[in-house]
Amino acid sequence: MNTCVIGLQWGDEGKGKVVDILAERSEVVVRYGGGANAGHTVVIGDSRFALHLLPSGAIREGTLCVIANAVVVDPEVLIKEIDGLAERGITLAGRLFISENAHVVLDYHKREDQLREESLGKAKIGTTIRGIGPCYADKVGRSYAVRMSDFRDLTVLAEKLRTILTYKNKLFGALYGAEPMNVDTVIENCRRYAQRLVPCTTDTTELLHTAIDGGKSVLFEGAQGSLLDLDHGTFPYVTSSNSSSLGLPSGCGVPAKMVNKYIGVAKAYTTRVGAGPFPTEQDNDIGEYIRVKGHEYGTTTGRPRRCGWFDGVAAAYSVRIGSVDALALMHLDTLTGIKQLNLCRAYEIDGQEKTFFPANIDRLARAKPIYETLPGWDEDLSEATSFAELPAVAQAYVQRIEQIVGRPIEMIGVGPKRSQTIMK
Ligand code: GDP
Ligand code: IMO
Ligand code: MG
Repeated sequence: MNTCVIGLQWGDEGKGKVVDILAERSEVVVRYGGGANAGHTVVIGDSRFALHLLPSGAIREGTLCVIANAVVVDPEVLIKEIDGLAERGITLAGRLFISENAHVVLDYHKREDQLREESLGKAKIGTTIRGIGPCYADKVGRSYAVRMSDFRDLTVLAEKLRTILTYKNKLFGALYGAEPMNVDTVIENCRRYAQRLVPCTTDTTELLHTAIDGGKSVLFEGAQGSLLDLDHGTFPYVTSSNSSSLGLPSGCGVPAKMVNKYIGVAKAYTTRVGAGPFPTEQDNDIGEYIRVKGHEYGTTTGRPRRCGWFDGVAAAYSVRIGSVDALALMHLDTLTGIKQLNLCRAYEIDGQEKTFFPANIDRLARAKPIYETLPGWDEDLSEATSFAELPAVAQAYVQRIEQIVGRPIEMIGVGPKRSQTIMK
């Protein structure tokens, strides 16, 4: 049984928690896209883990962890993450495999991300400044790309880095008046990265096919959310990869039909970090209530997340493009205390009712949400262990989302902990 977990909104839906739970029944867990822009949280008892590059299954000692070809690997972050887990008694030794074809994020990518965002002022995307866009751009451009396999020959890599830094420094100086970056520091850092990471670098496509042929169950962990997908999200306010489940086949070399089940994760409301359209946003007391109660601050950047009502049009779109079979609905507990809850079931665009999400932001900007209002509840849900224990109005809220999105909800989050998850 191979399963993919994917975000249905603009990221931070609670994928880390869902992956951690499903990893109990998986032998291999795979990150197949994005980079250290992701921040996936796993909470077990009083221990909290925030993972940026390692798959969330890493917390479970028995799992093999794969970082596949389409992930952009920031070695500095990855090594810190491996060491951080080791300090907490979780070792990755012998069970971490990084694709030799994965591209590498180096300091000049982060610098480029920052310089560009700063220069754009109000027009900025609001990236995480983790060098994601510049690294993927170098991948597509090919000539100045560095891949994990390049760490195997440091002499050749040093030569390549001298060419790259000459180019980048000219660019940064001419465009932004920036100080040149020191190439020797970059080369020295790469020496350190190579020492630590070359032993884990391999052909992960072969590894995954061998595992699947051998009957192992593989869990694919999406990063970001489907609405941040480069091709199918709210461009240009997206990330630089195919973060919907459409990115899975190219992201790790496993065809979509080898995945038996796609689980879409959504919050019981909607959040977004960074700029871009957000039709159901509540830039008011409701949004503030959700932000405070749900601790809606970025796992990677600490930025406050924008909050709003559940958007059924957006979620249904992500379900359709992502071939999603079932939903995990997180943060139901966060809605406790709101008297009336709005659910967006359609948009009005140019006087017409639409239920198909327009990813094109010019049309999306004209979309007015059409809401249904449902009664809220005051009960604390955090101790609930079954669907039947939830207040009738909370059950009705969940069931209405199932109808609007057109898929069953199989998991419900009532708190951040692994144990605070209802299997419906
Ligand atoms: P991811 O990027 O999709 O893995 O999500 P993040 O980890 O960035 O953000 C989700 C946040 O919500 C984390 O702080 C989680 O610990 C927390 N969380 C997950 N599920 C629930 C839930 O059902 N209720 C509450 N209150 N918090 C949750
Ligand atoms: P997880 O995996 C939420 C957003 C950024 C910005 C846009 C582009 O934790 O759900 P980038 O740095 O990728 O160039 O930024 O995408 N973004 C995320 N938002 N969760 C994420 O990851 C995100 N990864 C990128 O905020 O708006
Ligand atoms: Mg996150």
